[in-house]
Amino acid sequence: MISNRPQPATFKPSGPLGGKISVPGDKSISHRALIFSALAVGKSRISGLLEGEDVLATAEALRAMGARIEKKDDVWTVQGVGVGGLMQPENVLDMGNSGTSTRLLMGLISSHGISAAFVGDASLTKRPMGRVIEPLSQMGADIRARETSDHKSCLPLTVRGLCPAVPITYRLPVASAQVKSAILLAGLNAPGITRVIEPVLTRDHSETMLKGFGAQIDVETDADDCRIISLTGEAELKPQKIKVPGDPSSAAFLVVAALIIPGSDIIIENVGINPTRSGLYEILQKMGGDIRFARQRKVGGEPVADIHVRHSPLTGIDVPAQIAPSMIDEFPILFVAAAMASGETSTRGLHELRVKESDRLAQMAKGLGLLGVEVTEKEDGLTIQGSGGKPLTGGRTRPVIETALDHRIAMSFAVAGLVTKSGLTIDDIRPVETSFPGFADLLQQLAS
Ligand code: S3P
Repeated sequence: MISNRPQPATFKPSGPLGGKISVPGDKSISHRALIFSALAVGKSRISGLLEGEDVLATAEALRAMGARIEKKDDVWTVQGVGVGGLMQPENVLDMGNSGTSTRLLMGLISSHGISAAFVGDASLTKRPMGRVIEPLSQMGADIRARETSDHKSCLPLTVRGLCPAVPITYRLPVASAQVKSAILLAGLNAPGITRVIEPVLTRDHSETMLKGFGAQIDVETDADDCRIISLTGEAELKPQKIKVPGDPSSAAFLVVAALIIPGSDIIIENVGINPTRSGLYEILQKMGGDIRFARQRKVGGEPVADIHVRHSPLTGIDVPAQIAPSMIDEFPILFVAAAMASGETSTRGLHELRVKESDRLAQMAKGLGLLGVEVTEKEDGLTIQGSGGKPLTGGRTRPVIETALDHRIAMSFAVAGLVTKSGLTIDDIRPVETSFPGFADLLQQLAS
């Protein structure tokens, strides 16, 4: 983080948003682009990489393990070490706020003959790591984590990899692309076939990119509709040229802002619209949102479009639990849209939101409550009564919202601030740097 002290920021009612903009590169794809490039033999080039703190933490860790990573004229180059070629890092790997960096790199290290210690910030240190420790231990890694009083395995932890690792077949007990990717990364340096069985489809960027890098990876669906991903280990990855599309999870904040601020009309160019990520857009359209996808095309194997959004009156909706994995990071901003819709929005099946950068159900319920929104918090979701487009008002003139080191909570309330009667203050805007550098400036640009 840039500064050690919280940086409060105030967001006031806004006039209509307008203009054509683009958002920073996709966070998930950026992590993977760096990691797979570091494992290729030769030099890869990446443009559009997200230069947020989370991705920079991944880059720094890969450098510490021998990859040469540089930036010149907006293009990042990665000189890979080849699968099996990682070097022993000399220092502890500091993952900051990033769960994706931690879990993916734990997978990577698990099948190399090296060891590493992982630390992170106060938010990351609370997040459960047992979900990756279990399969990676089956593959032979020796992982020692801090055990909490409520029996969670958390950071700080150390991973001692095993080379050659043991290829496994693993059925995911939670719908998690991070767990899937950690196992596949470990499998890259294991002899034989590593299989991940995925009962519920999660983002598939790892599979797409591994294919692009020349790994042998097959995906089939079994009789029970489970996806079976089979990766042949001891792969040789070929260097690639990668163009990272704009992040749909970042665009989501601007899309909802435009939908709920009267008179708005914006275009966000070059946004990823992979169906494993586009659940929010589908739900907002069903709520009555005027969202159109123009110039649909493929960039580096990923579907991309320009998104045209106009202000629209929204109607509350019952969000089916099955859609959750395709919009797992977008619930905080959906809750803001729901607060401005007419009628009730209900959500369920969202236990995973309690173990993200913060407990997102609790933080959103608390913050929206301060804005006068009627919210019921259940164990696995929120039910929200919308204002029908009326500005949000709380008991206090300008409430201070707790963001709990969570970038998506901070950005959701920043957007909510634009539709309040007299503004709100978020207690700390620094976490936004993890995924969306320039967020506040971009909002201002759209408003002026
Ligand atoms: C991510 C997967 C998701 C998501 C996270 C990024 C990834 O986490 O919430 O922001 O890049 O694989 P889970 O795997 O925990 O669902």
